[in-house]
Amino acid sequence: MKKKLLFNPKSRLADIIHLDYRLIPVIGRFGIEFGFGNKTIKEVCNNKGINVWFALEIINSYHDSNYFPKKSLQNFPAKLIIEYLSSTHNYYLKVKIPEIQEYIDKMEQNVKPENHKNITLLNGFFNEYKEELRLHLENEDQHVFPYILDIDNAMIRGEIDDELYKKILTDSIENYERSHDDAEVKLNDLKNLIIKFLPPVLCKELCQNLLIEIFRLEADIKNHTNIEDKVLIPKVKLMEKKLLEIRENKL
Ligand SMILES: [Fe+2]
Ligand SMILES: [Fe+2]
Repeated sequence: MKKKLLFNPKSRLADIIHLDYRLIPVIGRFGIEFGFGNKTIKEVCNNKGINVWFALEIINSYHDSNYFPKKSLQNFPAKLIIEYLSSTHNYYLKVKIPEIQEYIDKMEQNVKPENHKNITLLNGFFNEYKEELRLHLENEDQHVFPYILDIDNAMIRGEIDDELYKKILTDSIENYERSHDDAEVKLNDLKNLIIKFLPPVLCKELCQNLLIEIFRLEADIKNHTNIEDKVLIPKVKLMEKKLLEIRENKL
């Protein structure tokens, strides 16, 4: 497969979007708003206090699925990685999921009575998925990420209190790793339900748009899960190990 050209600090933000419009929400997650004229990504990031190297690694890994700089991403502060992942959660819950729901609702409004049961099936399936995703993201936002931030703070201070010590021993990041499911897998079933089983009469423009949005969400979640599994978890494992060493050396 031909390698895509990666962006660098001198790339103009407008050119980045022209080359790969899928990056629009990714750029938005960094708090970058439109109206950047001919500014380079470095200029825009510097103005907004964004770490340009981190933004570039995220943008490039999204742009080229063959490019995933695990080691380089692991070197960025955990806080930065978590900020990006949290804003991605927000995007799923506040933007992407409601958008997909809206397509299904519109299909439901337009459907003839004899096909109603198909849309009810689709809606039921999507509602199940939504609930699973909500629980998945909520667990990360409310439990996993705060734990990682505690670990990060302890690393910065170079000391670990009793509570965190106990937590590492009893409920380390390995527990999360074991239970961390692929949030995009079920979307594949939803896609198949539409592609293979919906009656042709339902698969008009609305349904085609719905399908495209599901593909987009799936690709986004895949990249997101990769960051959690291949960047965040190994990084936290190393930090936990270091903190246990600090603790044991002090005893
Ligand atoms: Fe997540
Ligand atoms: Fe996750």
